[in-house]
Amino acid sequence: MERIGAHSHIRGLGLDDRLEPRETSQGMVGQAKARKAAGMILKMVQEGRIAGRAMLFAGPPSTGKTAIALGMAQTLGPDVPFTMIAASEVFSLSMSKTEALTQAFRRSIGVRIKEETELIEGEVVEIQIDRSLTGATKTGKLTIKTTDMETIYDLGNKMIDALSKEKVTAGDVIAIDKTSGKITKLGRSFARSRDYDAMGADTKFVQCPEGEIQKRKEVVHTVSLHEIDVINSRTQGFLALFAGDTGEIKPELRNQINAKVAEWREEGKAEIIPGVLFIDEVHMLDIECFSFLNRALENELAPLVIMASNRGKARIRGTNMISPHGLPADLLDRVLIVSTSQYSKEDIEQIIKIRCEEEDVSLTPEAMAILSNLATETTLRYVLNLISCAQMLARKRKAEAVGEQDVRRAYDFFFDEKRSVQYIQEAGMSLVTDLDENDRRRSGKTKPAGDDAMDES
Ligand SMILES: Nc1ncnc2c1ncn2[C@@H]1O[C@H](COP(=O)(O)OP(=O)(O)O)[C@@H](O)[C@H]1O
Ligand SMILES: [Mg+2]
Repeated sequence: MERIGAHSHIRGLGLDDRLEPRETSQGMVGQAKARKAAGMILKMVQEGRIAGRAMLFAGPPSTGKTAIALGMAQTLGPDVPFTMIAASEVFSLSMSKTEALTQAFRRSIGVRIKEETELIEGEVVEIQIDRSLTGATKTGKLTIKTTDMETIYDLGNKMIDALSKEKVTAGDVIAIDKTSGKITKLGRSFARSRDYDAMGADTKFVQCPEGEIQKRKEVVHTVSLHEIDVINSRTQGFLALFAGDTGEIKPELRNQINAKVAEWREEGKAEIIPGVLFIDEVHMLDIECFSFLNRALENELAPLVIMASNRGKARIRGTNMISPHGLPADLLDRVLIVSTSQYSKEDIEQIIKIRCEEEDVSLTPEAMAILSNLATETTLRYVLNLISCAQMLARKRKAEAVGEQDVRRAYDFFFDEKRSVQYIQEAGMSLVTDLDENDRRRSGKTKPAGDDAMDES
C-alpha cells in the first residue's frame, strides 16, 4: 500500500510544449501565472543558463507555493539535483546555520563525471587452463571472438578465478572491464542455441558481437558536490551519507574539492549541473542567514534558489526591521517575485476532486458542495485534510460514498484555525504564547506592526 502525502497528486507543472499552463494537468489546477513563471525559470535552468539567481513565491497560506515547487522538481528530471529544506531546519544544534546552508547549497549542485573504460567484449571460443603440479599456480588462455575477429589472451590467476566463479564456458558472450577486471555475462551466443540440454530455461540468447573485441565505453554518473565533500571528509566516510549526520565539513576540504572539480572540468572529465534549492517558509531565516545567502548567490557554483513565504510585511528575524515578506531589502532586490493568489471556487472543486481520486474517496455532490464552500471560508489545506476523516466516518456507517453528514461530523470533530482561536478566546485562555512577545513585554517595547500572515488585501 502506498502512503498518500499532502502533495502526492502533483506530478509536474502541467505545462504544454510552449510552456502554456493546461487548465488541469499532472495534478495541477489553476494558478496559471505562477505555474508559467515557474516553467520559464525551469527552462532556463535546464539550458544551464541561470545560476546564482533566486526567486520567491509569495502568497497567502495554502495557495500552492510548495505544490508548485514540487511540480518543478518533478519536471527537472532525475539528473538535476533538487533540494528542499524548510528554513527552520537551518537552526540545528549539531552545526552552524551557515554550515547547514552551505550543505544545502552544495547538495543542489550536480557534478556529472565522465569515465572512459576499456571493455573486452565477445563470444568465448575456448578457455584453456593449465595447473602446475602442486595446483598453486594456474596459467591459461582465453580465446574470444566477434563476428569480425578472434584473439587469444593470456590469463593470470585472478582472471581464471573470476571466470570460474562466473561459470563462463565456451559459447558465452561476456564483457570484461579492463581496469577493474570485472566480468559480466551478457548471455549465450545464438550459434550455441542447439546445445539446449546444457542449460536452464532462463538462459538468455544474444548475438555474437560485431567489430573490434576491445572497445572504449563512456560511463557517466552524477553526484552532488555535497556527496563528494562527505566522501572525502576523512573522519566521516561515505556511510555518513546514509546516516545524514555529516557534521561540519572543513572549508579547506571544500576548497580542495572545488579546485579538483574545476580541473576535471578543464580536462573535459566533468560537467557542472546547477540544480535547484528550495527554501520553504523562508521568513523563518534570520538576518545572518540572509546575509550569507547574499554572498553565496554570488559564488560561481551557486544553484537556483527558490524561496516561499506567506508573510506580507514581517519582521526580519534577528532585527526589529519590518520588511516585505520578511526578507531584507538587499536580498529582495535580487529575487524574481512570483505571487500566488487565492483559488476560485471552480479551481478548489477541481483540486478536491483530484485529491479524492488520489485518496480513493468518492463524494456525493452535496458533500462536494459543502467542502468547496468550506475551503473558501477556511483554508484549502484544512478541507483536504477533512476528506480522509470524512471517509473514515462514512466507512463506519458502511456507506459507499462520503455524504453530507460525514463532512459535517468531521467538521465538528476537527477545528480549523479560526474556530480554534475563537474557542480559546471564549474559554478565557491566554492567547499569547509567542516568546518574542514575552521578551518585548519584559523590555517594555511594543509589538511591531504588521507581523502577520499575508491575507488577500
Ligand atoms: N494548483 C494546485 N493544484 C493542485 N493541488 C494544489 C494546488 N495548489 C495547492 N494544492 C494542494 O493544496 C494543498 C496546500 O497547498 P500548499 O502548496 O501546501 O500551499 P502553500 O505552500 O502555499 O501554503 C496541498 O495539498 C497542495 O498539494
Ligand atoms: Mg508551503
